[in-house]
Amino acid sequence: MVEETPWQQALRYANRADPYPFYEELRKTPVARQPDGTYVVSTYREIVTLLHDPRVSSDPRKAPAPVPTEEEGAADRTDEPQAEPSIITCDPPEHDRDRRMMTPHFAGPPDSPDLISGLEPEIRRIVDGLLDDMRGKTRIDAVDDFAYPLPVTVICKVLGVPLEDEPRFHQWIQTALDAWEYGPETASEDFPSRLAASNQAVQDFGRFAAELLDRYARQPGPGMLSAMVNEDGPEGRMSRGLLTSNALLLIFAGHETTVNLIAHSVLTLLRHPDALQKLRRRPELIVPGVEELLRFESSVQFWPTRSAVEDIDIAGTTIPKGAPIFLAYGSANRDPEQFTDPDELDLERRDNRHLGFSQGIHFCFGAPLARLEVQNAIGEFVRRVENPRLVEDPPPYRRNQIFRGPRHVLVDIDGIRD
Ligand code: HEM
Repeated sequence: MVEETPWQQALRYANRADPYPFYEELRKTPVARQPDGTYVVSTYREIVTLLHDPRVSSDPRKAPAPVPTEEEGAADRTDEPQAEPSIITCDPPEHDRDRRMMTPHFAGPPDSPDLISGLEPEIRRIVDGLLDDMRGKTRIDAVDDFAYPLPVTVICKVLGVPLEDEPRFHQWIQTALDAWEYGPETASEDFPSRLAASNQAVQDFGRFAAELLDRYARQPGPGMLSAMVNEDGPEGRMSRGLLTSNALLLIFAGHETTVNLIAHSVLTLLRHPDALQKLRRRPELIVPGVEELLRFESSVQFWPTRSAVEDIDIAGTTIPKGAPIFLAYGSANRDPEQFTDPDELDLERRDNRHLGFSQGIHFCFGAPLARLEVQNAIGEFVRRVENPRLVEDPPPYRRNQIFRGPRHVLVDIDGIRD
């Protein structure tokens, strides 16, 4: 049997709770060719260099599918329906034009620059309600009872997606995520059936978004999606195909990542009682604290759609034209060349230029909203939950490798303060 590379080991589900020893090994070869022809970049400096290199495309249409080798079979993704690219899977000039068309509806045009910050009272109300609901309980699940409901409620409101549709799209997203997989386990027996279910779920989710946009075209309603369907900006209106892809991206990205950051933040603080105490004593540390928590356990471990459009020489390796490139943010955020004592949690870390939200043109569109949600959620959890204790460590993890996070975080508590 061929020995697995550190990257293949990091991808294995059995190692989801602690991929860090494999990342440490991986960083010894900053740009590492994998048996399927993918180049995995794991060091901070090299990732930042490539994030700013126009020879790196984010558009999967520019990359041939990975070529399976004798050592590893790559998943056959050729039967996936070809949707129009969302901003995360296209390059300039399309990327910049589409992102410019979306931005005023999210960040607010000049006449309403407080669109996101104005959501804080509502976020606070939701967080308070979730914590109030824990009164009388001695055990909670920090994922189901806390981390999940906040971002999903907020993103539905921002976008104008009916919250009553949540159970349907939640299921589609989970099914899709269960087969969005790379590495050795794509050769497992159950993978083809997971992939088929995933393709179906993506189609159902796409139809749901298209119908919602149709509804808003007939009758305008609240939120960003209706505004994008009905309002012309300086660059006109997005085509329906682009709108559908970007709506799906926003519904998905708007909560999956934030759920994982809230869940991981609770888990990490309960593993570091000194940091928890410090945050309780000095609540103003929540702002740098959330950045450190995101560095420490990154919600997006890597991003898989990039490829080289020309040969690229980097760190003594040539990434050949057409090769897929994975940027491993989760590893870069623990790179000792960039962060002093990277495996230590330091809520007051200076110069914390982590890659949790990436960098460059694809820097996270929703970062201001995510920060506001997580700062309020974790700040209030720390202040109000009495004597929280982890029940199970490590907790069970979700299957997905990119959006890494615990499935449940059971916590015993003594009560909820006012
Ligand atoms: C803690 C929460 C979040 C984390 C850690 C996160 C992380 C990221 C990362 C790493 C990327 C770059 C991916 C790449 O390499 O190309 C990204 C892009 C993006 N994120 Fe987030 N995200 C979060 C929350 C959100 C929210 C709340 C939204 C929506 C409201 C959002 C929408 C997007 C979009 C649309 C992009 C694509 C931007 C572009 O390609 O120009 N994200 N996010």
